[in-house]
Amino acid sequence: MTFQTKMKQNTELNYWLNIRDETDAKARVISDKDFDTPTTKHVDIILKNLRPEKTDAILELGCGIGRLMKPLSQHCDKIVGVDISDAMIGIASKYCYGVQNVFFKPMETDHTILMQNDGFDKAYSIIVLQHIEKYKATRLLMELCRILKLGGKVLVQYPNLLKCKKGYTNDIVAKLQMGDLIPRMEYYTKEEIEFVFDIAGLKILEVMDIDTDFYVLAQKVEQKKFVETVIIASTKLVNE
Ligand SMILES: C[S@@+](CC[C@H](N)C(=O)[O-])C[C@H]1O[C@@H](n2cnc3c(N)ncnc32)[C@H](O)[C@@H]1O
Repeated sequence: MTFQTKMKQNTELNYWLNIRDETDAKARVISDKDFDTPTTKHVDIILKNLRPEKTDAILELGCGIGRLMKPLSQHCDKIVGVDISDAMIGIASKYCYGVQNVFFKPMETDHTILMQNDGFDKAYSIIVLQHIEKYKATRLLMELCRILKLGGKVLVQYPNLLKCKKGYTNDIVAKLQMGDLIPRMEYYTKEEIEFVFDIAGLKILEVMDIDTDFYVLAQKVEQKKFVETVIIASTKLVNE
């Protein structure tokens, strides 16, 4: 069975795979009625922290329709969006039509990125890891580390568990009522974030607490082998 076929059997992923049109895709990216306000806010946070340069190659993990890539493309050499959903990538290609330095690629699997090691100066992921099981989200963080050049920077957003108490309980009720018709939601504490960045080989430069989210700016300081990372992580747990 191919990975694509397996993915289609994963009902949780179907939320992202079954996109009807651009309006439907936009609604799944930002549930806010106003699409532009959160988009401007996210672009500002990325510009201020990742500080893209005109020579930079940037990767967005879980690019959706490319709403962030389009404005950010003006600030770098090239920007590549990867996403699990072919439907999202199809809409993103139309949404960014005519922008010469924007490229889209499907994921290899739901936790591996089909890109070589050390190819990107910067990477970011906004409103994505919150929809993924924590062990796979950690695996994806390791992937972001792998595709970055040494010294490269990454910016990742996570919902702050302590600021989302209402959302957290609402999600439990909504999941009971709607099941896989709504996406999975995962909330994080600062301690969890520090743990997963450490095992991924990413040195945290700053954890920003903005509204109900954490935005984590980190740097690739070493290239760990996957097996090595897992051994270090389990040793840490045993020693706690
Ligand atoms: C809420 S949207 C955010 C899109 C974009 N980052 C933005 O802020 O506009 C979440 C995106 O993550 C993608 N996604 C979900 N699971 C993924 C995975 N395992 N790997 C890559 N992309 C994934 C979905 O297909 C969807 O496009």
